Amino acid sequence: MKIAAPAKINLGLQVFDRRPDGYHDLESILQQISLSDCLTFQATQSPGWCFECSHPEIDGEDNLVCRAARLLEKLAEKELPGVAITLFKNIPIGSGLGGGSSDAAAALRGLNIFWKLGFSFRELECLGASLGSDIPFFLQGGTALARGRGEIITPLTPLPFFWVVLALPPRLSISTASVYGSLDKNISSVPSLDILRGAITGNRREDILNWFNTGEVNSLQPLVLNRYPRLCRLQNRMKKLGLKPVMSGSGPAFFALTGSYLLSSEAALALQAEGYRAILCWTAQETAINYY
Ligand code: C5P
Repeated sequence: MKIAAPAKINLGLQVFDRRPDGYHDLESILQQISLSDCLTFQATQSPGWCFECSHPEIDGEDNLVCRAARLLEKLAEKELPGVAITLFKNIPIGSGLGGGSSDAAAALRGLNIFWKLGFSFRELECLGASLGSDIPFFLQGGTALARGRGEIITPLTPLPFFWVVLALPPRLSISTASVYGSLDKNISSVPSLDILRGAITGNRREDILNWFNTGEVNSLQPLVLNRYPRLCRLQNRMKKLGLKPVMSGSGPAFFALTGSYLLSSEAALALQAEGYRAILCWTAQETAINYY
């Protein structure tokens, strides 16, 4: 069995104060994109599971895929058929695109099927939330509003198709915990997400693109730009190429939506030529599961 584990972008992210449990309340509109990792599940003769990852930096036992497998194994309370899980990584790690959380969501869905565990969607959502705040979104996919610490998901009308240019400096990954950990009391505000939500619900393409002209739409962006001046250079470069760049999550990946293939493909090529890691992808709604 093969499951795609897609990346996400935060079309808008408002972070509020730190809560007694250490997390921050937030509101965000999340969008699945076509860039995906891939998890395969293959039956093995011996019982138990094993894990392998194409990316040596995250090939260890603390990978969220292993944590998801251990959690389900503990709850199953029955002998489970042996399975070899392989993760093929495409989503840049520590980039704000949610790759690790998406891999965990794909592992929960995949093993629930492979091991015939029969957990409901809601049960998987609770298990996902116990492993990471973004995981419930990836179980849902598509376009959604996230609240609470990010784990309370309300599906929204699917975003219309846009090209998405992703770009980040090579060899830069940022820990989400370190960004949230250095937020002070004066967290910057973003325009009301209701504006964007209304544009999405009304399927108004121009208003969706205009959202990115309303000012800063990610509360974490000023702090991260301040800490990594080279991200300011990337942002300016993307603007010069005719894009409206916004940081995704806690960064460092920037994204820009456009309706034009020509503009977005030429921008991605120009950024690549300048040494950036740039990827042209698009907004997506479905997550594929294939059997072979
Ligand atoms: O939930 P997750 O494990 O992805 O979060 C990683 C870290 O990011 C948390 O340990 C916390 O420090 C921070 N965080 C936060 N508020 C959120 C989400 C994450 O402070 N809403």
